[in-house]
Amino acid sequence: MARPDPHSYFDDTQPRVRALDLALTCDFERRRLSGIATLRFESEVSGVLDLDSRALAIHAVETDDGQSVPFAVSEDEPILGQRLRLQLPAGTRAIAVRYQTSAEAVALQWLEPEQTAGRRHPFLYSQCQAIHARTVVPLQDTPIVRIPYHAEITVPDALTAVMSAGPQGVKPAGPGERTFVFDMPQPIPSYLIALAVGDLAWRDLSPRSRVFAEPETVEAAAFEFADVEEQIRGAESLFGPYEWDRYDMLVLPPSFPYGGMENPRLTFLTPTLLAGDRSLVDVVAHELAHSWTGNLVTNATMDHFWLNEGFTVWAERRILEALHGPEAAAVGWAIGERSLADAIRRFGADSPLTRLRTHLAGVDPDDAYSQVPYEKGARFVVALERAVGRERFDRFILEYIARFRFSSLTTEEFLVFLEEQLPGVAARVDAPAWLHGTGMPDGAPTFHSARIEELEALASGFSRGQRPAPDVALGWPPQELLVFLQRLPRPLPEDDCEWLDRNLRLTGRGNHEILVEWLTIAVTSGYAPVYERVRDVLLRVGRMKYLRPLFAALGTHAETRGLARRLDAEAKPAYHPLSRRVVEGVLAGYAD
Ligand code: BES
Ligand code: ZN
Repeated sequence: MARPDPHSYFDDTQPRVRALDLALTCDFERRRLSGIATLRFESEVSGVLDLDSRALAIHAVETDDGQSVPFAVSEDEPILGQRLRLQLPAGTRAIAVRYQTSAEAVALQWLEPEQTAGRRHPFLYSQCQAIHARTVVPLQDTPIVRIPYHAEITVPDALTAVMSAGPQGVKPAGPGERTFVFDMPQPIPSYLIALAVGDLAWRDLSPRSRVFAEPETVEAAAFEFADVEEQIRGAESLFGPYEWDRYDMLVLPPSFPYGGMENPRLTFLTPTLLAGDRSLVDVVAHELAHSWTGNLVTNATMDHFWLNEGFTVWAERRILEALHGPEAAAVGWAIGERSLADAIRRFGADSPLTRLRTHLAGVDPDDAYSQVPYEKGARFVVALERAVGRERFDRFILEYIARFRFSSLTTEEFLVFLEEQLPGVAARVDAPAWLHGTGMPDGAPTFHSARIEELEALASGFSRGQRPAPDVALGWPPQELLVFLQRLPRPLPEDDCEWLDRNLRLTGRGNHEILVEWLTIAVTSGYAPVYERVRDVLLRVGRMKYLRPLFAALGTHAETRGLARRLDAEAKPAYHPLSRRVVEGVLAGYAD
């Protein structure tokens, strides 16, 4: 197979890039990175080399001994972007590509000072997964290829650069500038290359972990994530030693389109996690767990994305269980159950996008994104775990990580390994139905917990006019309140909305999981007192997980569809391009 990844021009009959050196200057005025990417090969190579690129201006390509390399950039293909085809002369060991990025780089969001907490300095951050690294660097942008990287990033004096790599110091550069040096010695897939530049402060949380954030939010961040070392230890006891040296975190400005991104050594996090009560640290457990499942053992292509996310959701809940007990993990499974059902309903239960093993040739991974690989994937892992018992399965996981560490694998390779280690188990759980079937298979694992059953009973009682005692409900842990809210029917009559808001003080909540679940119920119910708060959330927060349900809820009534369009127009300039696309998709589905 010459082109093994449907989302890359990578050709496995051509030379493979073995290492990357970046020397880039960050120009906030022109909103671009410019400089040199040096791609190194293991030996002398020659002939055609196809790289992925998109919206890059390629100025020149030279070999390590100064020969110029002929190149051609193809037309922009809507999903893959542009093929950069190089003709490598005989004896090439490395090439230097002189280039710059453009305003169309989807992986880069350049923020105005007003979009930051400090409002004084601009901010830049990258988000390369799934296939946007090619808008930052020309490379073989497929997780089949893994590379170590070294980077020198020159930024304005007042700003700090951080990357998914070990910091190697700071050097003076031109007037008003300095250069941050980084090294990522372990080979990683291109989607884990990450950069952020801004007015950053930090707090140490343990000898191997610190949190970076703007000075205005760093104290809140240090409080929220104070227990990270406990999580790292819990994860190590389950999955083996942490192999990436440091585990640092970066809290981004609120436009960050995801909850978290597992950039190695430096997890990126949305500031919506700063609830003030450490109730949303399951996202940190998740990104941390990717250090094993995802970053050490990686999906070969996006058709095997469930190997990354399904295992990681399962791992996240095992960490939660080890640290906070089985009830806490059960709450996680219960919350996930709803988001899985919503995702399957959104695509349709017979949609190919509800398969675990997908076939995404011709499909943009951002359009295929859903909770299916996460929650269905995690349930498949539990089905395997339950079929052999925990003890054996825990040994299997350690073997799996040991066997595939620092490599990328397909679902089919996983199945071969599974059969080798746990013969007959795939057949026993009907793995083909899980992997290739749409919707959920019969007999999928269920998660029982007395507490969840109580909350479900309270939610169904609520629709029959039975009210929980407000003082008791106000004391529910946030995740339990979320389970209750998720299970309320919608739309709700106005007096139910009013009761909920008054007694559970929902509209004023700072926990965005609860807030957005509530606002979604209220908007679907046409409950106008929340519109101002909806506006506040949509103008401030760019996390796609929140934009999708809120804009969808606004679409359920003619009166709020107009509001949605006005809010979209107002908020759009500040949204990340990925968030913009999600909102556009939701608005396009409106009835009028
Ligand atoms: N790796 C994902 C984020 C991602 C996936 C970005 C695909 C781009 C393409 C990350 O680990 C993730 O899953 N984040 C979740 C949080 C998690 C607790 C489920 C999110 O952002 O909601
Ligand atoms: Zn994840």
